[in-house]
Amino acid sequence: MPRILTQNLIPGMVVAEDVYTYNNQLVLLKDTELTDKSITKLEFYSILSVRIREDTASGSSEEKIPQEEMSYSQRIKASQEFKEFKADFEGAVDDFKGQVNGLLTVSKGSKVNTEGLLKDTNDLLRKTPSGLQIFDMLHNMRMYDDPTFAHCMNVALICHVFGRWLNMPDRDVDTLTLAGLLHDVGKLKIPEQILGKPAKLTDNEYQIIKTHTVEGYNILKDFDMDEHIKNAALMHHERSDGSGYPLGLTSERIDDFAKIVSIADVYDAMTSARVYRGPLCPFKVISIFESEGLQKYDSKYILTFLEYIVNSYVNNRVLLSNGLEGDIVLINKLDLSHPMVHCGSHYIDLSHEHGLYVEAIL
Ligand SMILES: [Fe+2]
Ligand SMILES: [Fe+2]
Repeated sequence: MPRILTQNLIPGMVVAEDVYTYNNQLVLLKDTELTDKSITKLEFYSILSVRIREDTASGSSEEKIPQEEMSYSQRIKASQEFKEFKADFEGAVDDFKGQVNGLLTVSKGSKVNTEGLLKDTNDLLRKTPSGLQIFDMLHNMRMYDDPTFAHCMNVALICHVFGRWLNMPDRDVDTLTLAGLLHDVGKLKIPEQILGKPAKLTDNEYQIIKTHTVEGYNILKDFDMDEHIKNAALMHHERSDGSGYPLGLTSERIDDFAKIVSIADVYDAMTSARVYRGPLCPFKVISIFESEGLQKYDSKYILTFLEYIVNSYVNNRVLLSNGLEGDIVLINKLDLSHPMVHCGSHYIDLSHEHGLYVEAIL
C-alpha cells in the first residue's frame, strides 16, 4: 500500500488502515473514502502521510469523475482558473505579510504605501473579474497555514466586491479594501498560543483576543492614512444593536466602513472555518445570518450583500433537504434563504414549505 503525503491526497482515495494522531486519537477509520473534509481534518491533526489503498492511489477523482458528475465545488477546484487563483492568492498573502510586518517597524507619522498594499488584491481581482467567481474561489480554498493573513486577504477581496455592489466611488472602494486588509492587524499583538488555540478559549483568553481591535487602532493611529481604515480596525466587532466590542457602540456611532468590513469579516469566518467541514452552501450562510440576527448589522448593507450573493445563484441547480433536485428560479426578497425552485414538473416555494431548505449547490 503506498504511503501518500497529506498535501498530495485527493478526494476519492481510500484509506488503507486506521489513522491515529501521535497521542493515539483515532482520526479516520480504515476504508474511509477521502473527501475535502477528511483531508482537511488530517491537515488539522498534523498527520503528514497516510497509507492509501493501491487501486485508488493513482488517479485523482478530478480525473476520473466526468465533468457533469462533479459537484459544484469539485468543478471549481478542477478548473484552471481556480488553480491559478490559488497560486496567486498564496503569493499575495506572503507579500502582504511582509508589508504588514514592515508597518510595525516603520516610524509613525510616515505615509503608508497604500498602492503597494492594494496591488496584490487588485491583481487578484483583475484576473477574476466577476464577484461571484471570487466568492466561489474563496469558498473552495483550503485552510492556509497562516489563518490571520489569509483571512485579511479574503476580507479585503470581499470588501472590494461589496463596495462595487454598493456603487461606491473607486476611491472609497480602495479605502474599503485597505480597511478589510488591515482590520485584524491588531492580532499581531496577540500571543500565538491564544490565536492558534484549537480548543475552546477560556474567558480570560477571549478577553485578550478582543483587545486586537484597540491594538489594531493603536498600530495604525499615527500613520498618515484614511481615518476610515483606522476606525474599521477599532470598530469591526461593534454591532448596530450595541452588542459588540470594544465599546458597545450603537449603529449611529459606528463608522460605515467598519460596518461593511464587519459583514465581510463574519461572512468569511462562516464560509472558511474549514477545519471541521467543507465549504458551506451560501443559502446556509444566509440562514445563519438570519438566525444570528440581522439587526446586528446595518440593514442597508446587509440586505444588499445577501441579495447579491443569493441572486448570483439564480439558475443554479440545487439539492433540497428532501433529496429532490431542482433549479433556483426566483429569489424571495423577504426570505432570502428560501427561494422558489423548479423541480421537474412543479415549482416549490421554499418560503412556504416549513423545514425544507437548500442543502447544496450542484
Ligand atoms: Fe477582528
Ligand atoms: Fe477578522
